[in-house]
Amino acid sequence: MAGPSQKKAESGLRFAVTTSLRPAPGLVESAKQLAAHFNVPFAERRDLSVKNLAGLYNADGLLVVSAKRISFIMGENEFFFHPGLAGLRIKEINNGKTDQMISAMSLKEGYSILDCTMGLGTDAIVASYVTGDAGRVTALESSPVICELVKRGLHSYADEDSQITDAMRRVKVINAKYKDYLASLKPGSCDIIYFDPMFRSPRRRSPGINAARMLADHDPVDRETVDLALNAAARRVVLKERRDSAEFERLGFKKIVGGKYSPVAYGVLERLGVPQ
Ligand SMILES: C[S@@+](CC[C@H](N)C(=O)[O-])C[C@H]1O[C@@H](n2cnc3c(N)ncnc32)[C@H](O)[C@@H]1O
Repeated sequence: MAGPSQKKAESGLRFAVTTSLRPAPGLVESAKQLAAHFNVPFAERRDLSVKNLAGLYNADGLLVVSAKRISFIMGENEFFFHPGLAGLRIKEINNGKTDQMISAMSLKEGYSILDCTMGLGTDAIVASYVTGDAGRVTALESSPVICELVKRGLHSYADEDSQITDAMRRVKVINAKYKDYLASLKPGSCDIIYFDPMFRSPRRRSPGINAARMLADHDPVDRETVDLALNAAARRVVLKERRDSAEFERLGFKKIVGGKYSPVAYGVLERLGVPQ
Protein backbone atom coordinates (compact mmCIF):
# COMPACT_ATOMS: atom_id res chain seq x y z
CA MET A 1 0.00 0.00 0.00
CA ALA A 2 1.20 3.49 -0.79
CA GLY A 3 2.21 5.59 2.14
CA PRO A 4 2.74 9.31 2.54
CA SER A 5 5.47 9.19 -0.10
CA GLN A 6 2.97 8.22 -2.83
CA LYS A 7 3.85 10.04 -6.01
CA LYS A 8 1.65 12.91 -7.13
CA ALA A 9 0.39 11.78 -10.51
CA GLU A 10 -1.99 14.49 -11.71
CA SER A 11 -0.99 18.14 -11.43
CA GLY A 12 -0.17 17.76 -7.75
CA LEU A 13 -3.10 15.40 -6.99
CA ARG A 14 -2.44 12.11 -5.24
CA PHE A 15 -4.89 9.40 -6.24
CA ALA A 16 -5.42 5.65 -6.37
CA VAL A 17 -7.79 3.50 -8.43
CA THR A 18 -10.51 1.37 -6.89
CA THR A 19 -13.85 -0.24 -7.82
CA SER A 20 -17.45 0.16 -6.73
CA LEU A 21 -18.54 -1.95 -3.73
CA ARG A 22 -18.65 -5.73 -4.38
CA PRO A 23 -17.32 -5.54 -7.92
CA ALA A 24 -17.55 -8.26 -10.57
CA PRO A 25 -14.09 -9.80 -11.30
CA GLY A 26 -13.88 -8.01 -14.67
CA LEU A 27 -14.13 -4.63 -12.94
CA VAL A 28 -11.20 -5.43 -10.63
CA GLU A 29 -9.09 -6.26 -13.67
CA SER A 30 -10.12 -3.01 -15.43
CA ALA A 31 -9.31 -1.00 -12.30
CA LYS A 32 -5.88 -2.66 -12.02
CA GLN A 33 -5.16 -1.86 -15.66
CA LEU A 34 -6.20 1.76 -15.14
CA ALA A 35 -3.95 2.01 -12.06
CA ALA A 36 -1.05 0.66 -14.13
CA HIS A 37 -1.85 3.17 -16.91
CA PHE A 38 -1.54 6.07 -14.44
CA ASN A 39 1.25 4.42 -12.47
CA VAL A 40 -0.71 4.82 -9.21
CA PRO A 41 -1.78 2.19 -6.63
CA PHE A 42 -4.78 -0.11 -7.05
CA ALA A 43 -6.80 0.10 -3.82
CA GLU A 44 -8.94 -2.95 -3.03
CA ARG A 45 -12.39 -1.62 -2.09
CA ARG A 46 -13.04 -3.97 0.91
CA ASP A 47 -16.48 -2.47 1.79
CA LEU A 48 -14.82 0.82 2.72
CA SER A 49 -16.26 4.23 1.94
CA VAL A 50 -14.44 6.33 -0.68
CA LYS A 51 -13.44 8.76 2.06
CA ASN A 52 -11.94 6.07 4.31
CA LEU A 53 -10.15 4.36 1.43
CA ALA A 54 -8.69 7.67 0.22
CA GLY A 55 -7.50 8.30 3.80
CA LEU A 56 -5.84 4.87 3.96
CA TYR A 57 -3.94 5.58 0.76
CA ASN A 58 -3.07 9.12 1.71
CA ALA A 59 -4.83 10.12 -1.51
CA ASP A 60 -6.57 13.39 -2.39
CA GLY A 61 -9.05 11.52 -4.55
CA LEU A 62 -9.97 8.13 -5.99
CA LEU A 63 -10.74 6.92 -9.47
CA VAL A 64 -13.70 4.59 -8.99
CA VAL A 65 -14.43 1.99 -11.67
CA SER A 66 -18.04 0.79 -11.62
CA ALA A 67 -20.17 -1.14 -14.13
CA LYS A 68 -21.81 2.12 -15.21
CA ARG A 69 -18.85 4.49 -15.47
CA ILE A 70 -15.45 5.60 -14.22
CA SER A 71 -15.50 8.58 -11.84
CA PHE A 72 -12.85 10.67 -10.20
CA ILE A 73 -14.12 11.43 -6.70
CA MET A 74 -12.58 14.02 -4.42
CA GLY A 75 -14.53 15.12 -1.35
CA GLU A 76 -18.00 16.13 -2.53
CA ASN A 77 -16.92 16.45 -6.14
CA GLU A 78 -17.24 13.81 -8.83
CA PHE A 79 -15.98 13.96 -12.42
CA PHE A 80 -17.19 11.52 -15.06
CA PHE A 81 -17.89 11.65 -18.78
CA HIS A 82 -21.32 12.69 -20.05
CA PRO A 83 -22.17 14.39 -23.33
CA GLY A 84 -23.53 17.46 -21.53
CA LEU A 85 -25.46 19.82 -23.76
CA ALA A 86 -24.14 18.26 -26.99
CA GLY A 87 -27.43 16.47 -27.76
CA LEU A 88 -29.55 19.57 -27.18
CA ARG A 89 -27.22 21.77 -29.27
CA ILE A 90 -27.31 19.26 -32.12
CA LYS A 91 -31.13 19.14 -31.99
CA GLU A 92 -31.23 22.93 -32.18
CA ILE A 93 -28.83 22.95 -35.15
CA ASN A 94 -31.12 20.45 -36.87
CA ASN A 95 -34.05 22.77 -36.15
CA GLY A 96 -32.26 25.57 -37.97
CA LYS A 97 -31.10 27.50 -34.89
CA THR A 98 -27.65 29.15 -34.82
CA ASP A 99 -25.02 27.49 -32.66
CA GLN A 100 -22.71 30.37 -31.73
CA MET A 101 -19.55 28.22 -31.67
CA ILE A 102 -20.28 26.66 -35.08
CA SER A 103 -21.10 30.08 -36.48
CA ALA A 104 -17.88 31.64 -35.06
CA MET A 105 -15.89 28.80 -36.65
CA SER A 106 -17.91 29.07 -39.88
CA LEU A 107 -17.71 25.30 -39.66
CA LYS A 108 -18.86 23.21 -42.62
CA GLU A 109 -19.16 19.56 -43.51
CA GLY A 110 -15.78 18.04 -44.38
CA TYR A 111 -13.68 20.59 -42.45
CA SER A 112 -10.88 19.51 -40.16
CA ILE A 113 -10.78 20.99 -36.68
CA LEU A 114 -8.28 20.90 -33.86
CA ASP A 115 -9.97 21.40 -30.48
CA CYS A 116 -7.01 22.39 -28.29
CA THR A 117 -8.96 22.19 -25.02
CA MET A 118 -11.19 19.10 -25.03
CA GLY A 119 -12.46 19.10 -21.42
CA LEU A 120 -15.67 17.04 -21.37
CA GLY A 121 -15.67 16.99 -25.16
CA THR A 122 -19.07 18.70 -25.59
CA ASP A 123 -17.80 21.20 -28.18
CA ALA A 124 -15.82 18.47 -29.95
CA ILE A 125 -18.96 16.29 -30.25
CA VAL A 126 -20.98 19.16 -31.75
CA ALA A 127 -18.12 20.01 -34.13
CA SER A 128 -17.78 16.35 -35.12
CA TYR A 129 -21.51 16.15 -35.87
CA VAL A 130 -21.32 19.21 -38.12
CA THR A 131 -18.15 18.21 -39.99
CA GLY A 132 -19.57 14.71 -40.48
CA ASP A 133 -17.97 11.58 -41.87
CA ALA A 134 -15.83 13.50 -44.33
CA GLY A 135 -14.48 15.82 -41.62
CA ARG A 136 -11.84 15.31 -38.97
CA VAL A 137 -11.93 16.36 -35.28
CA THR A 138 -8.81 16.02 -33.18
CA ALA A 139 -9.16 16.95 -29.50
CA LEU A 140 -6.23 17.70 -27.20
CA GLU A 141 -6.35 17.49 -23.41
CA SER A 142 -3.38 17.99 -21.12
CA SER A 143 -4.93 16.57 -17.94
CA PRO A 144 -4.23 12.81 -18.07
CA VAL A 145 -7.30 11.90 -15.96
CA ILE A 146 -9.75 14.09 -17.89
CA CYS A 147 -8.21 12.86 -21.14
CA GLU A 148 -8.53 9.16 -20.32
CA LEU A 149 -12.06 9.37 -18.84
CA VAL A 150 -13.40 11.44 -21.72
CA LYS A 151 -11.61 9.32 -24.33
CA ARG A 152 -13.19 6.17 -22.90
CA GLY A 153 -16.57 7.91 -22.68
CA LEU A 154 -16.46 9.12 -26.28
CA HIS A 155 -15.61 5.61 -27.42
CA SER A 156 -18.22 3.76 -25.35
CA TYR A 157 -21.20 6.05 -24.57
CA ALA A 158 -24.24 5.06 -26.62
CA ASP A 159 -26.60 7.94 -27.30
CA GLU A 160 -30.20 7.22 -28.30
CA ASP A 161 -29.42 9.08 -31.54
CA SER A 162 -26.96 6.93 -33.48
CA GLN A 163 -25.69 9.97 -35.41
CA ILE A 164 -24.57 11.53 -32.11
CA THR A 165 -22.94 8.25 -31.10
CA ASP A 166 -21.12 8.22 -34.45
CA ALA A 167 -20.01 11.84 -33.92
CA MET A 168 -18.52 10.85 -30.52
CA ARG A 169 -16.67 7.88 -32.01
CA ARG A 170 -15.07 10.04 -34.71
CA VAL A 171 -13.31 12.37 -32.24
CA LYS A 172 -9.62 11.52 -32.08
CA VAL A 173 -8.35 12.23 -28.56
CA ILE A 174 -4.72 13.04 -27.75
CA ASN A 175 -3.19 13.65 -24.32
CA ALA A 176 -0.97 16.63 -25.07
CA LYS A 177 -0.34 20.26 -24.23
CA TYR A 178 -1.61 22.35 -27.11
CA LYS A 179 1.55 24.41 -27.42
CA ASP A 180 3.74 21.33 -27.94
CA TYR A 181 1.25 19.84 -30.39
CA LEU A 182 0.80 23.05 -32.38
CA ALA A 183 4.57 23.45 -32.70
CA SER A 184 4.70 20.03 -34.40
CA LEU A 185 2.11 20.88 -37.08
CA LYS A 186 2.80 21.88 -40.68
CA PRO A 187 1.40 25.25 -41.84
CA GLY A 188 -2.28 25.09 -42.78
CA SER A 189 -2.66 21.50 -41.57
CA CYS A 190 -6.22 21.92 -40.28
CA ASP A 191 -9.05 24.27 -41.17
CA ILE A 192 -10.06 25.52 -37.72
CA ILE A 193 -8.15 25.70 -34.45
CA TYR A 194 -10.25 26.21 -31.34
CA PHE A 195 -9.46 27.20 -27.74
CA ASP A 196 -11.88 27.09 -24.82
CA PRO A 197 -9.51 27.58 -21.88
CA MET A 198 -10.59 27.57 -18.23
CA PHE A 199 -12.10 31.00 -17.58
CA ARG A 200 -9.85 33.30 -15.61
CA SER A 201 -12.72 33.66 -13.12
CA PRO A 202 -15.27 30.83 -12.98
CA ARG A 203 -18.85 31.68 -13.97
CA ARG A 204 -20.59 29.51 -11.40
CA ARG A 205 -19.81 26.86 -8.87
CA SER A 206 -21.46 23.43 -8.86
CA PRO A 207 -20.13 19.97 -7.95
CA GLY A 208 -19.81 19.13 -11.67
CA ILE A 209 -17.84 22.28 -12.49
CA ASN A 210 -15.74 21.98 -9.32
CA ALA A 211 -14.92 18.39 -10.24
CA ALA A 212 -13.61 19.45 -13.63
CA ARG A 213 -11.76 22.43 -12.14
CA MET A 214 -9.82 20.27 -9.68
CA LEU A 215 -8.41 18.16 -12.51
CA ALA A 216 -8.07 20.77 -15.25
CA ASP A 217 -5.05 22.66 -16.52
CA HIS A 218 -5.58 26.34 -15.63
CA ASP A 219 -2.66 27.88 -17.54
CA PRO A 220 -3.71 30.87 -19.65
CA VAL A 221 -3.22 30.83 -23.43
CA ASP A 222 -0.15 32.87 -24.46
CA ARG A 223 0.61 34.97 -27.56
CA GLU A 224 3.15 32.48 -28.87
CA THR A 225 0.46 29.76 -28.83
CA VAL A 226 -1.90 32.01 -30.83
CA ASP A 227 0.88 32.60 -33.40
CA LEU A 228 1.52 28.85 -33.64
CA ALA A 229 -2.21 28.26 -34.11
CA LEU A 230 -2.45 30.92 -36.82
CA ASN A 231 0.40 29.23 -38.65
CA ALA A 232 -1.19 25.77 -38.38
CA ALA A 233 -4.75 26.88 -39.27
CA ALA A 234 -5.85 26.98 -42.89
CA ARG A 235 -8.93 29.13 -42.18
CA ARG A 236 -9.35 30.54 -38.68
CA VAL A 237 -8.46 30.43 -34.99
CA VAL A 238 -11.34 30.78 -32.52
CA LEU A 239 -11.14 31.55 -28.78
CA LYS A 240 -14.09 31.21 -26.39
CA GLU A 241 -14.07 33.47 -23.35
CA ARG A 242 -16.36 35.50 -21.14
CA ARG A 243 -17.88 38.30 -23.17
CA ASP A 244 -16.15 40.98 -21.06
CA SER A 245 -12.81 39.13 -20.90
CA ALA A 246 -9.56 41.06 -21.26
CA GLU A 247 -8.09 37.89 -22.78
CA PHE A 248 -9.38 38.82 -26.26
CA GLU A 249 -7.38 42.04 -26.33
CA ARG A 250 -4.32 40.53 -24.64
CA LEU A 251 -4.20 37.76 -27.25
CA GLY A 252 -4.89 40.00 -30.27
CA PHE A 253 -8.48 38.94 -31.08
CA LYS A 254 -10.23 42.00 -32.55
CA LYS A 255 -13.28 40.37 -34.11
CA ILE A 256 -15.61 39.20 -31.32
CA VAL A 257 -18.84 37.38 -32.19
CA GLY A 258 -21.60 35.55 -30.32
CA GLY A 259 -25.16 35.88 -29.06
CA LYS A 260 -26.06 39.42 -27.97
CA TYR A 261 -27.23 38.33 -24.52
CA SER A 262 -24.84 35.44 -23.98
CA PRO A 263 -22.28 35.71 -21.15
CA VAL A 264 -19.69 34.10 -23.43
CA ALA A 265 -18.29 35.26 -26.76
CA TYR A 266 -15.93 34.02 -29.45
CA GLY A 267 -12.82 35.79 -30.70
CA VAL A 268 -12.00 35.06 -34.35
CA LEU A 269 -8.68 35.42 -36.17
CA GLU A 270 -8.99 34.73 -39.88
CA ARG A 271 -6.25 33.65 -42.27
CA LEU A 272 -6.14 36.51 -44.70
CA GLY A 273 -7.01 35.75 -48.30
CA VAL A 274 -8.77 32.48 -47.50
CA PRO A 275 -12.40 32.34 -48.68
CA GLN A 276 -14.39 31.55 -45.48
C1 LIG B 1 -13.14 24.89 -20.24
S1 LIG B 1 -12.51 23.31 -20.51
C2 LIG B 1 -13.02 22.95 -22.16
C3 LIG B 1 -14.45 22.52 -22.26
C4 LIG B 1 -14.79 21.94 -23.62
N1 LIG B 1 -14.75 22.93 -24.65
C5 LIG B 1 -16.10 21.21 -23.61
O1 LIG B 1 -16.93 21.47 -24.50
O2 LIG B 1 -16.30 20.35 -22.74
C6 LIG B 1 -10.79 23.53 -20.75
C7 LIG B 1 -10.01 22.23 -20.85
O3 LIG B 1 -8.76 22.51 -21.48
C8 LIG B 1 -7.75 21.79 -20.84
N2 LIG B 1 -6.48 22.49 -21.07
C9 LIG B 1 -6.04 23.63 -20.47
N3 LIG B 1 -4.81 23.96 -20.90
C10 LIG B 1 -4.46 23.01 -21.82
C11 LIG B 1 -3.30 22.82 -22.63
N4 LIG B 1 -2.24 23.62 -22.52
N5 LIG B 1 -3.27 21.78 -23.49
C12 LIG B 1 -4.35 20.93 -23.58
N6 LIG B 1 -5.46 21.05 -22.81
C13 LIG B 1 -5.52 22.08 -21.95
C14 LIG B 1 -8.16 21.80 -19.38
O4 LIG B 1 -7.53 20.77 -18.64
C15 LIG B 1 -9.68 21.62 -19.50
O5 LIG B 1 -10.04 20.28 -19.48
